[in-house]
Amino acid sequence: MKTALFPGSFDPVTNGHLDVIKRALLLFDKLIVAVSVNNTKSGLFSLEERKQLLIRACKDIPNIEVICFEGLLVQAVQKYNAAAVIRGLRAISDFEYEFQMAMMNRELNKACETIFLMPSPEYSFLSSRMIKEIASFGGDISTFVPTVVVDAIRQKALNRKKINE
Ligand code: PNS
Repeated sequence: MKTALFPGSFDPVTNGHLDVIKRALLLFDKLIVAVSVNNTKSGLFSLEERKQLLIRACKDIPNIEVICFEGLLVQAVQKYNAAAVIRGLRAISDFEYEFQMAMMNRELNKACETIFLMPSPEYSFLSSRMIKEIASFGGDISTFVPTVVVDAIRQKALNRKKINE
């Protein structure tokens, strides 16, 4: 049974991520979606919240497991015996960072292969960062993210409003 690991910050999961998940499952028997912290990004949701959102968003997708990991990606790859790391490539602008990360991970663990999957064109401009920005100004994000995420972002905004009242 071939397992792949799809790491990311998923803050929050978008329809683009779900598209990559479904594509990866056409190639592998099982996919581990691995939520982690990207030290260069500020987070809206906690790791556990991101994991729960992913679980709910993927409830109808078989052969998937959602986990959180701390530490190096190559350690998670080893722990879960993953044959490959899956990363989504939206545009050429993603490539430099992704290439550097893939090569560094291979340097850290010679067996760590990275496979890039392109999402459908309608998701090629989507990013979690933009979703958070649009939502923070009250924009409609419902066509970009699963319903569970729309509700969770709305709830976060309400909680913040209560704290500031
Ligand atoms: O969705 P993102 O923010 O692009 O995901 C980046 C992530 C979490 C996959 C990356 O930051 C990562 O692998 N973090 C774990 C720590 C690590 O291994 N860093 C070295 C990467 S070369």
